[in-house]
Amino acid sequence: MRVQREVDLNKSEMVMQESGQRSVRKYRWMAGSIVALLLSAFSIGIAQTAGPRRAPLPTIVKQGSHYALMVDGAPYLMLGMQANNSSAWPGYLDKVWPAAEDLHANTVELPIYWEQFEPEPSRYDYSVLDTILTQARAHHFRLVLLWFGTWKNGASHYNPEWMKLDQKKYPFVLGIDGKTVDSPSVYSTARLEADKNAFRALMLHLKSADAQHTVLMVQVENETGVWGSARDYRPEADKDFAGQVPGKLVTAMGKKAGTWREVFGEDADELFQGWAIASYVEQVAAAGKAVNPLPMYVNAWLRDPFHPTKPPVGYESGGPTDNAIPLWKAAAPSIDVIAPDIYIPEYAKYIRVLDLYQRPDNPLLIPETNSGDEFARYVFASVGRGAIGWSPFGLDWAENQIDVSESMNRHPHKPFAMQYALLSPISRLLARANFEGRVHGSSEDPNHHYEKLNFDQWQAVVAYGKPGWGELGQSKGNPKLDGGVVLVQLGENEFLVAGHHANIDFASKESGKKRLFLKVEEGIYDADGKWQMIRLWNGDQTDTGLNLSAEGKSLLRVKLTTF
Ligand code: DGJ
Repeated sequence: MRVQREVDLNKSEMVMQESGQRSVRKYRWMAGSIVALLLSAFSIGIAQTAGPRRAPLPTIVKQGSHYALMVDGAPYLMLGMQANNSSAWPGYLDKVWPAAEDLHANTVELPIYWEQFEPEPSRYDYSVLDTILTQARAHHFRLVLLWFGTWKNGASHYNPEWMKLDQKKYPFVLGIDGKTVDSPSVYSTARLEADKNAFRALMLHLKSADAQHTVLMVQVENETGVWGSARDYRPEADKDFAGQVPGKLVTAMGKKAGTWREVFGEDADELFQGWAIASYVEQVAAAGKAVNPLPMYVNAWLRDPFHPTKPPVGYESGGPTDNAIPLWKAAAPSIDVIAPDIYIPEYAKYIRVLDLYQRPDNPLLIPETNSGDEFARYVFASVGRGAIGWSPFGLDWAENQIDVSESMNRHPHKPFAMQYALLSPISRLLARANFEGRVHGSSEDPNHHYEKLNFDQWQAVVAYGKPGWGELGQSKGNPKLDGGVVLVQLGENEFLVAGHHANIDFASKESGKKRLFLKVEEGIYDADGKWQMIRLWNGDQTDTGLNLSAEGKSLLRVKLTTF
């Protein structure tokens, strides 16, 4: 992990940047296409005359136990949108940008397809990448690029045609029964070298074509692992499997030296496969990083966080699942983040995954999450646990998938848009506060309708479906699972509260003291980053705690005292 001192923008500047971008977005759908056209037409001329300002390299930095993704010299919270797999083609990008605009996202995650990028051996085609860069800038989005290289969802379907046609040189995994498995074998120096070279070419091109760092991070491969076999059983693999576990891995996993079976018992096949894949991915990432050291991450198809099965059942073998995080850290030091793709709807499991991947040695990043309505509220718990980014999958308007739930392909994506509309104006503020450990968040749990969030002197009590003024009874939860809130400590007795469909109250931690609301302001941050109060809340709006409505502005600055 590279550590760089924070270059501070003051709070106003950061909020201003975001507000400025948002007001620009109001008009950009109309203007975007014209600008894109002009930019393409004149890009060569522009490049030859006044090149774009070289912005600071995005980095991931650590301060104490907190992380920040530094963008333009200040912490950045990625409120992302990942496009559908086949949407990153120039003819489909017009279904991506307006969807991301509707969503109030600040970052779009788009694949770069190896099959398109290297149509013939060692001939690289940068045209699609260049179009993506030009259009993202015209539409005022930052990008995360997903390198669909050797692996895509455990298979090698994005390997170029010329590779698919030479399966001797670019082999598949062999199953225990001697049959071919639809997954790339790491025992192909030719494929590894080709992937390294292509990824290096991609990163090198970005270095010259993206001085302004529109691209913030790069995902290396996509959901690596093997479906349908615990490991590769080709003879070379069997030979390695009979050997000693590398010392680095033994240490990382806190084990004693021995063969794979001796050290890892029934987990040996899975971890052997994991070590092989992670070591391969490291070589690809390192080749790219050597020429352009942008932050890089890998994403994981998850195993059940409470009751995991054993591969080949239930999940891919050898991917960066929670049990293999130390393995991946040891094998792939060029990877800055090991990131979970969270498609699990259950509250307890979702939260458990966040807790498993937020570690002192790993920043929390959710590069993919399901786009069903009930997932929108998880942005609050994720940001509250220090996430540097969060991104629902498949929300562009290219409705071209068949075998997915209806919710993956529908628009407008109201719950997500509502949460992002609330959070995007304060995204820089949230990122900075997270870097300083001043943020907590809560997402509605269908089984427990209260959550207590602990700050130094205060405990915030979040309730979902709390009875109204004069009504009796306990909180029962919201009719739809859509409650959530994020709280930022602004001062000893002052908080910023942003959320929907939740009731917030505070309890003093000082013994014998009770909470008194000193001042509760509803407001917004204006284009200059200054807080503008719209009204004061008091009376019915504060006597039973602060009720954040489902769709209202729901941004409050709360000052507390005691009596
Ligand atoms: C996870 C993968 O990483 C994505 O590319 C996509 O295939 C989604 N699953 C679809 O659910």
